[in-house]
Amino acid sequence: MSPLLEVTDLHVSYGKIEAVKGITFRVEEGEVVTLVGSNGAGKTTTLRALSGLHRPAAGTISFNGTRIDATPAHEIVSLGLGHSPEGRHVFARMTIEENLLLGAFLRKSAKRSELDADLDRTYAMFPVLGDRRQQAAGTLSGGEQQMLAMGRALMNQPRLLMLDEPSMGLSPIMMKLIMTTVAELRKTGTTVLLVEQNALAALKLADRGYVLEGGKIVLEDTGANLLINEDVQKAYLGQD
Ligand SMILES: Nc1ncnc2c1ncn2[C@@H]1O[C@H](COP(=O)(O)OP(=O)(O)O)[C@@H](O)[C@H]1O
Ligand SMILES: [Mg+2]
Repeated sequence: MSPLLEVTDLHVSYGKIEAVKGITFRVEEGEVVTLVGSNGAGKTTTLRALSGLHRPAAGTISFNGTRIDATPAHEIVSLGLGHSPEGRHVFARMTIEENLLLGAFLRKSAKRSELDADLDRTYAMFPVLGDRRQQAAGTLSGGEQQMLAMGRALMNQPRLLMLDEPSMGLSPIMMKLIMTTVAELRKTGTTVLLVEQNALAALKLADRGYVLEGGKIVLEDTGANLLINEDVQKAYLGQD
């Protein structure tokens, strides 16, 4: 069987600046795969290309056996590729529930009862969102907004959920909670592509990982092996 996501020799540029310089990686169904790397390595650019938000300059992206590198972003979402963006981007003046329902916007054929069931599932995963469902999203803390961004992406029932820096700016306790949730998602069968500057947290959780540096993949291995890799320890883990 072909991988759920297969990226081959992907190049992504901003004008003349090449941010992603020919990366090849894959995500198999049921895996948690992480892309780690320092600020500016090209992680966000890669996810934006996968989502169709920024067209690749070259290379191919296949999702669930279909080429998507020229597919419009909304169709990519409909195919089951979910994206929780860096910086969360929740709608501060809308309620938590309205934000979640936006995540299901493209499921036009979904009945209200199905959406209610998905809301209930989201509230079970993140009880604080359920307790405050009618409050404006802007009243949530950073960690709670991260939960909302993840919950919103999950409302589209993605086969692959891409998370861009979910732990950014969070307290250690909140970060742990978010990472635990990622582990739970995997148990429920959601495949996850996790992008993190916090290499330690990401590699502890991931089945496999890729280290991105200057737009190139410099290392790939299991999460466990990368955690004990000397180069990774020197470059990333010492900073924790
Ligand atoms: N909108 C943009 N215009 C020009 N250059 C950009 C833009 N966004 C990112 N870059 C550049 O692309 C490179 C990769 O950035 P990014 O993908 O955001 O890295 P990361 O997410 O790993 O921190 C960096 O050199 C960054 O400065
Ligand atoms: Mg980024």
